[in-house]
Amino acid sequence: MAVPVAPGGELERIEIELLLEAVDRHYGFDFRGYALGSLRRRLWRSVSEEGLVSISGLQEKVLHDPAAMERLLTRLSVNVTTMFRDPTFYVAFREHVVPLLRTYPFIRVWNAGCSTGEETYSLAILLEEEGLYDRARIYATDFNSDVLARARAGELPLDRMQEYTQNYQRAGGKSDFSAYYSVESGFARLGERLSEHVVFAQHNLASDRSFNEFNVVLCRNVLIYFSRDLQRQVHRLFYDSLARFGVLGLGQKETLRFTDLEDRYEELDPTEKLYRRVA
Ligand SMILES: C[S@@+](CC[C@H](N)C(=O)[O-])C[C@H]1O[C@@H](n2cnc3c(N)ncnc32)[C@H](O)[C@@H]1O
Repeated sequence: MAVPVAPGGELERIEIELLLEAVDRHYGFDFRGYALGSLRRRLWRSVSEEGLVSISGLQEKVLHDPAAMERLLTRLSVNVTTMFRDPTFYVAFREHVVPLLRTYPFIRVWNAGCSTGEETYSLAILLEEEGLYDRARIYATDFNSDVLARARAGELPLDRMQEYTQNYQRAGGKSDFSAYYSVESGFARLGERLSEHVVFAQHNLASDRSFNEFNVVLCRNVLIYFSRDLQRQVHRLFYDSLARFGVLGLGQKETLRFTDLEDRYEELDPTEKLYRRVA
């Protein structure tokens, strides 16, 4: 008779490690540096949603069935996002970052872990309202090609437009949010202008390198899912990707504190997690 796997026990750890190694070797997605608690919960949810009983069973299925791997990727990557998420972040961005950006003839922004694009489009709207959009290029990346396809489509669910309008207003929006989209059957389509200076591309923070020198790196609500070691590695990547005096924006629960790069930044707004590279 099969011995049940104790949560948090040795056997479960071995099965998780083997699954993660298999996924990395076969598909090139490295989840080994993700925070274990949330990873474990999501893996077990996948086991049950795939109609399986063990993590080894999940390993076998995803290795032989790319569609099962796609589903696993979506479950592990947590794609929750909203337009003008944490509106006060955008107020702080207008106050502390926009004046710095005005001094540049050309502005390169990296929006890492952009999910379905709501954060990217929020930033595009902000830059447009501040008269900076025409000199900006936003590189918006995620490792999940499904969410990138949805981001490129620029469609928002109608039932969230009221919430998004309120977020926009609380974020210091200067116009009428409805000016940025048109209503089509069943969804709101963002205006083409908002993607004119945006490039959506696949990039894996755990395994890919820096690809430019940026004036702004925004990576919000992504590092929270990573272990401390992987967070350190990704902070190094951001540091190397920022121009001198470039700005780093993190999510509310994320920090630079435990990294050895803390001294190389000054805090622009510690509450809203806005930092500027100074060394
Ligand atoms: C919770 S969403 C955050 C979206 C947006 N930044 C926000 O704050 O609303 C996290 C995103 O990070 C992406 N992600 C997770 N691990 C990643 C990795 N290793 N490389 C690139 N993107 C990753 C996920 O696919 C997901 O779209």
